Amino acid sequence: MEYRKMGRTGLQLSVLSFGSWVTFAKQIDDTASGKLMTLAYDNGINFFDNAEVYSRGESELMMGRILKKSGWERSSYVVSSKAFFGWRGENNKPNQTGLSRKHLTEACHEALQRFQLDYLDLFFCHRPDKTTPIEEVVRTMNTLIQQGKILYWGTSEWSGAEIAEAHMVARQLGLEGPAMEQPQYNLFERYKMEVDYYTIFKNIGMGTTIWSPLASGLLTGKYNNGIPEGSRLALEGFSWLKDKTLSDQKLARVAGLGKLAGELGTTSATLSIAWCIRNPNVTTAILGATREDQLRENLKALEVLPKLTDEVMTRIDEVMGTKPEMPAY
Ligand SMILES: NC(=O)c1ccc[n+]([C@@H]2O[C@H](COP(=O)([O-])OP(=O)(O)OC[C@H]3O[C@@H](n4cnc5c(N)ncnc54)[C@H](OP(=O)(O)O)[C@@H]3O)[C@@H](O)[C@H]2O)c1
Repeated sequence: MEYRKMGRTGLQLSVLSFGSWVTFAKQIDDTASGKLMTLAYDNGINFFDNAEVYSRGESELMMGRILKKSGWERSSYVVSSKAFFGWRGENNKPNQTGLSRKHLTEACHEALQRFQLDYLDLFFCHRPDKTTPIEEVVRTMNTLIQQGKILYWGTSEWSGAEIAEAHMVARQLGLEGPAMEQPQYNLFERYKMEVDYYTIFKNIGMGTTIWSPLASGLLTGKYNNGIPEGSRLALEGFSWLKDKTLSDQKLARVAGLGKLAGELGTTSATLSIAWCIRNPNVTTAILGATREDQLRENLKALEVLPKLTDEVMTRIDEVMGTKPEMPAY
């Protein structure tokens, strides 16, 4: 395993990490989730990602039970939660969502209870909240740090301008700005990581814990000939994701990527994950898996990484046609 410093912090994260969205408490039970976390941990993964909204709090409860049973030293792993969406779905009342001091504080307390932990290593604002002043968010996150309830605070799917504003306000107040961001990043979603955050990486420094490195499985090629039973895009309640993820154009590109992966002696899943971590601004790529064979395949990204020469990267760009244009600064 390779470990990378999270932006300009002293924290080291394994370059591959493991998350529970969709899977824990929805597709897989305690036993299967525990086996996956153990396989991850035994292979050097030290970061486990979660959020209040995943399976409406059940995912944090499950991960908490697994961590408690594992016997792993608390200092050997990093665990996160994210607040914004609340966990009650359509029953959320005012103040049970968003980034107000009230919701951020209560969401942190609830996550700690569900995890059965004393502190969260990483705590993310799961989305920007345009109705809460950024100063309130910055002050609240710094209070939670000072109380020892969280160690680092960050954002998820904020724009570069929103992140820059948070840093400006934090600096004015003599407080800590966001240390990390959690954006989607994969061979179909490149704009934020490669264009929008360019000046933040360059001028401020920021760790990233990127999500959906396989675009929910699309980049494995598993959807090339239809939707396999039991796969994520076949799940009830996920037609929104299916509509967003599948198109003939994307499937044609994935087929092309599969051929290139074959030439390199690997699979498109492994190649796609290696491609993500080839970007030095990626601190860690959060993997998702429902089965141990998937996780084993995805961990091989570390072996494929050295094969990604500049020439191979150019060929990937040609096959995918998704490289965003950099403005002429
Ligand atoms: N901050 C945010 O807004 C946000 C949003 C989404 C996710 N996340 C985080 O990022 C983590 C990873 O995201 P993700 O789960 O979407 O990642 P992903 O890697 O894009 O998709 C993972 C899914 O693809 C399938 N899969 C994975 N490896 C495979 C393989 N080798 N062969 C065939 N199928 C394979 C599995 O689904 P099936 O077996 O069910 O098909 C698996 O659950 C999440 O758990 C969460 O922690 C954060």
